[in-house]
Amino acid sequence: MNIPAIIPAPGPAVMQSLQYADERPACGAWPGYNTRMTNLPPLGDLTPAEFFRDYWQKKPLLIRQAIAGFAPPLNPEALFALAAQEEVEARLICHFDQQWQMQDGPFAALPARSQSGWTLLVQGVNLHDRAADALLRRFRFVPDARLDDLMISFATDGGGVGPHFDSYDVFLLQAHGRRRWQIGSQQDLSLKPDMPLKILARFEPEQEFILEPGDMLYLPPHYAHDGIALGDCMTYSIGFRAPSYQELGQGFLEFMGDSIDLPGRYADPDLKPGKAPAEISKRMLTDIAAELRKVRFTDDDIAIFVGQYLTEPKHTTYFTAPQQTLTPPRFASTAGKKGLRLALKTQMLYRGPHVFINGMSFEVEPQDRPLLARLANDRSLPGELVGAARADVAEALYTWYQDGWLEITI
Ligand code: SIN
Ligand code: CO
Repeated sequence: MNIPAIIPAPGPAVMQSLQYADERPACGAWPGYNTRMTNLPPLGDLTPAEFFRDYWQKKPLLIRQAIAGFAPPLNPEALFALAAQEEVEARLICHFDQQWQMQDGPFAALPARSQSGWTLLVQGVNLHDRAADALLRRFRFVPDARLDDLMISFATDGGGVGPHFDSYDVFLLQAHGRRRWQIGSQQDLSLKPDMPLKILARFEPEQEFILEPGDMLYLPPHYAHDGIALGDCMTYSIGFRAPSYQELGQGFLEFMGDSIDLPGRYADPDLKPGKAPAEISKRMLTDIAAELRKVRFTDDDIAIFVGQYLTEPKHTTYFTAPQQTLTPPRFASTAGKKGLRLALKTQMLYRGPHVFINGMSFEVEPQDRPLLARLANDRSLPGELVGAARADVAEALYTWYQDGWLEITI
């Protein structure tokens, strides 16, 4: 049995040429960049290195007052307003009269707050709210390639999503009210049949905690848990992602499908008459196999695929272009004074000479890499660096601004 440890309250590119990824990569590494941690990781007395060594993907951890005096960025009304929007992913789970029901949003109306036993879950709140995004970014001691989203739940007394397990690591931060968590290290993860949501058939809790605002519970993947609201409560789930190899394999074959080059066509000038017209000849298969084995992929192909895959916006994500698009000279002078920041929905990563943004990849000259690395790491660029961008990078920044991928800092 894994007993969760309890941690007490803590102390406190300018582009010479922006090339698309199917062109040959340039050599060279990224020079240094500035990373500024605006907030300490909310890990109590643990350093990220200690947390990774002892807990991450290994065992649960309860941190009392991980964020002492936590002032949640969204109150219930703000969450309900988000759940009413078309582009926001929301679910309503009702556990009334021993029956589970689940509905997908948007929700123009919700059950009364006086009614016990319901939960509203809103996914990807960080994509819509800057303060929620800032909270998620406090967990950037885990790389962006693994960080997924901030989900917020609101539940009335007795509400919850039932005993279940998640496939990903999660930090469950209590934001408002109290929640009783029961957790268990069971191996039997079979689910109840014919349910609208995944509920464990046999939940065997081993530990129980009541979380108050600011307390946080970390759970590794596949750890059984059940959280029940004690009165109205809000829980913020900081979720991670880990694509399955099957998904990656399928995605990679699709990606390679766009770039493979196999010239020629099957030919059989020496064809002989046969006895079974429906049978595929061995020779035909041998010839085709020999050609298909010519498909090759490089480490660079993999890097480009992974970067594009990880930065691909979710299918529900739409970018909003600026209300009044500035002309390129006005953009240059305004952004040169105020600076730029990535839009909340923008995902930006890099590796070697490659920069990935919202599912696109670019190949960057060595002298331009620090600037774009700075934009990706800080998710913003001060005005003086925007002003120093070389022509191709300045052009790319302008295009990304027009597309709503980045915006002038307010
Ligand atoms: C919740 O916030 O109600 C559910 C979070 C979880 O169990 O993963
Ligand atoms: Co869960």
